[in-house]
Amino acid sequence: MNEIIRNTQASFTNGSLDPQDWSEFRALAHRMLDEAIDGIANVRARPVWQPIPDAVRAAVRTDVPREATDLAEVYREFSEHVAPYATGNIHPGFMGWVHGGGTAVGMVAEMLAAGLNANLGGRDHMPIEVERQIVEWMRGLFGFPQGASGIFVTGTSMANLMAVLVARTSALGALARQHGIGNDGTLLTAYASKAAHGCISRAMDIAGLGTDALRKIDVDADHRIDVAALRAQIAIDREVGFRPFLVTASAGTVDIGAIDDLRALADLCREEGIWFHVDGAFGALAILSPELAPLLEGIELADSIALDFHKWGQVPYDAGFLLVRDGERHRQAFAQPAAYLSREARGLAAGTVWPCDLGPDLSRGFRALKTWFTLKTFGTDRLGAVIARSCALARYLEARVLAEPRLELLAPVNLNIVCFRYRAGDAINREIVADVQESGIAAPSSTILDGKFAIRAAIVNHRTAETDIDALVSAVLEFGARRCGGVIEIEAPPLAAQ
Ligand SMILES: Cc1ncc(COP(=O)(O)O)c(C=O)c1O
Repeated sequence: MNEIIRNTQASFTNGSLDPQDWSEFRALAHRMLDEAIDGIANVRARPVWQPIPDAVRAAVRTDVPREATDLAEVYREFSEHVAPYATGNIHPGFMGWVHGGGTAVGMVAEMLAAGLNANLGGRDHMPIEVERQIVEWMRGLFGFPQGASGIFVTGTSMANLMAVLVARTSALGALARQHGIGNDGTLLTAYASKAAHGCISRAMDIAGLGTDALRKIDVDADHRIDVAALRAQIAIDREVGFRPFLVTASAGTVDIGAIDDLRALADLCREEGIWFHVDGAFGALAILSPELAPLLEGIELADSIALDFHKWGQVPYDAGFLLVRDGERHRQAFAQPAAYLSREARGLAAGTVWPCDLGPDLSRGFRALKTWFTLKTFGTDRLGAVIARSCALARYLEARVLAEPRLELLAPVNLNIVCFRYRAGDAINREIVADVQESGIAAPSSTILDGKFAIRAAIVNHRTAETDIDALVSAVLEFGARRCGGVIEIEAPPLAAQ
């Protein structure tokens, strides 16, 4: 243990929780920052992820700490028991689910935000102006009109839920918030493809509309929603008395990164008078890449877009976002009068629309700051280039899979996600994923495609390079061979002729 840590006595005065000795605190805090920076700078020296030893799990299970512990000791526990066993998504070998890598810039911005300890539920202060600036940038990027509104939330699951609520209030009128849904017998139905993220169905459940009211429409071979089937389902529902109110398009499906035909969906929704929402959790930020942006054609016609800056935007968790074309409809879904939140002409309570009018949260942190720092420090062109590069890496992985007879590609590569498997059964591939994760070499995740277990690599992290892709392929081949006892079990279909 370092001299500074040993000597630090982070004792506190009886009244305030501020350190009694600021210089001692400062020395330790600087050391923490240095080590956090080292952790990112030297991330390649560590395993991507490692299993948590039982002793480590046990070490953090303590009684409620009634007595004070020295800050240096708490930091030691963090360094030994927490930091080494994190998810690993800052590592370039992390390719599971859809996790961004974060940046050192985002990390220090988060620290600065914590220093301000601002509450962005409302009131008149600059942190809210920073959030409003990002809303304005997003409005411009996605071609939304003046009067559009936006808000930071935890993630796209929350943003999608809020979009369902805005669309619901828009369809039923603001009185539905008072009377409840279904009182007038209206049976709302929503639509998304079978490849849509599960949070859409959960949003229907939480919104009180029920998951049955979400019609899951078939997809084509590229996992894009079958627009003709959608149109037919809407007609059937109208025929039997349902009221179609919402279509959620996927701009980057979670399994394989497919982007629905946004233009066709926008046209259909306009014809039918249905709210058009886009789940762009990761894919929407492809708008930053001139090469990829055309894939999102039609997104500018959406009524709302959900996206995460913490995925392809590389902002540290969490930084979800909802953009709504008609800010007034957005407000009508959430705003609520309260004497203790009254708006004044001047003073700290000045200002018109407060973020608490645009979502369910009243207490809100300063997520916008790490996003503002990230967008400004790197510039959107560079972030767009990072996004395009991760798609190029996905194509590189695709090429490696196609060139390797022991591997099988399971889905087209649309953006940054590659689904493949070792030519063996599901059980062996499941073991391979866990073997690779536990080896610390790489961290892919898995999914099921057409009934087959797939090894899934989503390249999101800006640090990932070709060598990391090579390491993943080698590890899959190595563990696959070991699991098969050196014998490759070949299942139908036969080896691809590449
Ligand atoms: C397409 C899609 N939608 C929604 C989500 C949920 O986003 P979050 O995890 O930020 O809530 C994800 C997460 O990966 C996603 O890929």
